[in-house]
Amino acid sequence: MSKHVHAQWSSKMTFVLAAAGSAVGLGNIWRFSYMVGDSGGAAFVLIYLACVALVGLPILVAEWLIGRRGQENPINAMADLARKGGHLPAWALVGASGVLAAFLILSFYSVIGGWSLSYTLGSVTGRFTGQDADGTGAIFGSLLGSPGMLTLWHTAFMALVIWIVARGVTKGLEGAVRTLMPGLVVLLIVLVGYGMTTGHFGEALAFMFRPDWSAVTGGVVLAAMGQAFFTLSLGMGIMMAYGSYLGEDVSLIGTARTVIILDTVIALLAGLAIFPIVFANGMSPADGPGLIFINLPVAFGNMTGGMILGLMFFLLLTFAALTSAISLLEPVVELMEERTPLSRVAATLVGGAAVWALGIAALMSFNVWDSFLIFGLNVFDLLDTFTSKFLLPLTGLGAILFVAWCLDRQGVADELALSGGRERLWHVVARYVAPIGVIVVFVTGLL
Ligand code: PHE
Repeated sequence: MSKHVHAQWSSKMTFVLAAAGSAVGLGNIWRFSYMVGDSGGAAFVLIYLACVALVGLPILVAEWLIGRRGQENPINAMADLARKGGHLPAWALVGASGVLAAFLILSFYSVIGGWSLSYTLGSVTGRFTGQDADGTGAIFGSLLGSPGMLTLWHTAFMALVIWIVARGVTKGLEGAVRTLMPGLVVLLIVLVGYGMTTGHFGEALAFMFRPDWSAVTGGVVLAAMGQAFFTLSLGMGIMMAYGSYLGEDVSLIGTARTVIILDTVIALLAGLAIFPIVFANGMSPADGPGLIFINLPVAFGNMTGGMILGLMFFLLLTFAALTSAISLLEPVVELMEERTPLSRVAATLVGGAAVWALGIAALMSFNVWDSFLIFGLNVFDLLDTFTSKFLLPLTGLGAILFVAWCLDRQGVADELALSGGRERLWHVVARYVAPIGVIVVFVTGLL
């Protein structure tokens, strides 16, 4: 039994906005573009789109369904539902690995959120004005080379996250997402327009949509699936936690479709904005995590009105990162609040401080610890790889298997308002297509 009455979203719209706020973040812009670049372009994009549709959608629905039925933190929700249905209590592990993933991801996510904050300030002070790619590369390099600066920005970002989460989950989020998300979309469209003027838009289009299947390896497919999980905030207990605040009257499938389309459109727009600039300036798309921080400032530094657009872009990116980061801290806090005597504020502070400390280890891998490797990866890459390629898919797999195989079929059909052919389609996708897809990708990726 949870020890307090569980809150509910004030309206359907708030829930959609909060879910979209979680999904849309650095993953759509920073991570999507650099993963596309690193993985060679279009084939990655198309596999990613397939993963989003065939695996992402059913798992998103499954997570919300578990959360709404359980009305508790992800671990208790899974444990209770399993017990009620006469299944092994070990299902609670699915909830636990989700919360662990959220914790690990936030630690490095906050470091990138810090970069975004720092670039917001850099845009105001005109730091990028007139810079070429070498100049912006040097600015980014000096940020990465300074553990002090990185710590400062990471701390500032994390402090914002802790402050917002400590105040409670529904307050303030709705207004922020409602106004800022459309702003982000408009700005991305402006940037895509700018990309069209560079003379390299066609090249970017081909890079993103004309696949070279010969370059596809198991690793690329696994990376694409990891990106699908990451960008939709799946496999982390987040959507389960959000679902636990959800009223009975919300259509899970319809809402999932809305959130997924929005998330995907933003990622594709980001790619169409970023790659023309990459090619126009003779940069390599495979520049790694620094990609947008090196190439976008070149565009902002050299276009009319670039200073104000740059400021708006990094500000909106920071907000998008914040709404996602809030959702990453939420399951950790929800769990601590319900399982320990800590108050919400205390739980937020303790959980946030632990995340912050791990983030310090992540940011040191860009400088003093750059040669400290585990399995050939530095701490930052290890956290990212371990979570997106392992924990998230496996947790998501657990969620969909549980819903498709352990819960009663008719009950799920009623809850999703499905019948006839559409119910059979859901059933086949949830039971076979999505889980087998995850397993096949996972196994081939590891071979
Ligand atoms: N999905 C968000 C993004 O794409 C970030 C996020 C990742 C949020 C993982 C929660 C969990 O940026």
